[in-house]
Amino acid sequence: MNIPGSTPAVHAPHVPLTDYYQTEQDRPAYLRQIFDNTAADYDRIEAMLAWGTGSRYRRDALIRAGLKTGMKVLDVGVGTGLVAVQACILTGNPALVIGVDPSPGMMAASKLPDTMVLIEGRAESLPFPDNHFDFLSMGYALRHISDLSVAFAEFERVLKPGGRLCILEITKPQNRVGRWLLKNYMRGVIPLLTRFVSRQKDTATMWRYFWDSIEACVPPEQVVATLSATGLTQVKRHLEIGIFSEYQAIKAVPGQLNGHGE
Ligand SMILES: C[S@@+](CC[C@H](N)C(=O)[O-])C[C@H]1O[C@@H](n2cnc3c(N)ncnc32)[C@H](O)[C@@H]1O
Repeated sequence: MNIPGSTPAVHAPHVPLTDYYQTEQDRPAYLRQIFDNTAADYDRIEAMLAWGTGSRYRRDALIRAGLKTGMKVLDVGVGTGLVAVQACILTGNPALVIGVDPSPGMMAASKLPDTMVLIEGRAESLPFPDNHFDFLSMGYALRHISDLSVAFAEFERVLKPGGRLCILEITKPQNRVGRWLLKNYMRGVIPLLTRFVSRQKDTATMWRYFWDSIEACVPPEQVVATLSATGLTQVKRHLEIGIFSEYQAIKAVPGQLNGHGE
């Protein structure tokens, strides 16, 4: 239900990007193929894009969202494991961390501890029982989900009462100059540099797609509204340097007064 005047919950995070695929139904197959085809380049290009700060940033974001030693973690959209490896360090035990992703190529390219489990699957239909995890993370996969409402309901379902959620996503800057700079960096400079360092022919396309999906993505208020609509509590958005959105939330504990955030 949408309250008049409030921000409505949303389903698809953006309209179909027809330079890459034609309809919403084509999106999952397109994404699986492009992530599979470019997996071998992902970590190198990511390090270039973030000037080597990505690991530290991911770890700090997990700490801000409340990840602690001994927690059982699900990392959705695990990819090559850049968030998951930080979760392994913070929990103190890789066997407590499970990664899920629809791209077998991305998971095969990961360098994660052997005791960490990786499973093929999608955010919209998680292959896990109810009330199973203390913490759920998802790094830079929000724009790739077909239905945010369905995925967030899944996140709520698999978290234990009191379990914590941390979704990381790049948001286009509010001001025009910042937007112009980031767009040209991500859509121009990075795809150009990939010519010298990439091994796969689709890598430049992949990073152009990265920006185009950021530009087309629903605004943060709608992500927050969609999270709140699932019944998650204390929904908040923390923003770093005007670009890095961290969506945090907690699964309600029955019988407890649960505050509602933003
Ligand atoms: C940009 S990578 C991010 C990888 C890693 N989390 C990180 O922080 O670098 C996005 C990942 O989301 C995955 N993905 C795409 N569609 C998805 C879906 N519907 N559910 C879960 N993951 C998805 C892709 O296969 C890819 O591995």
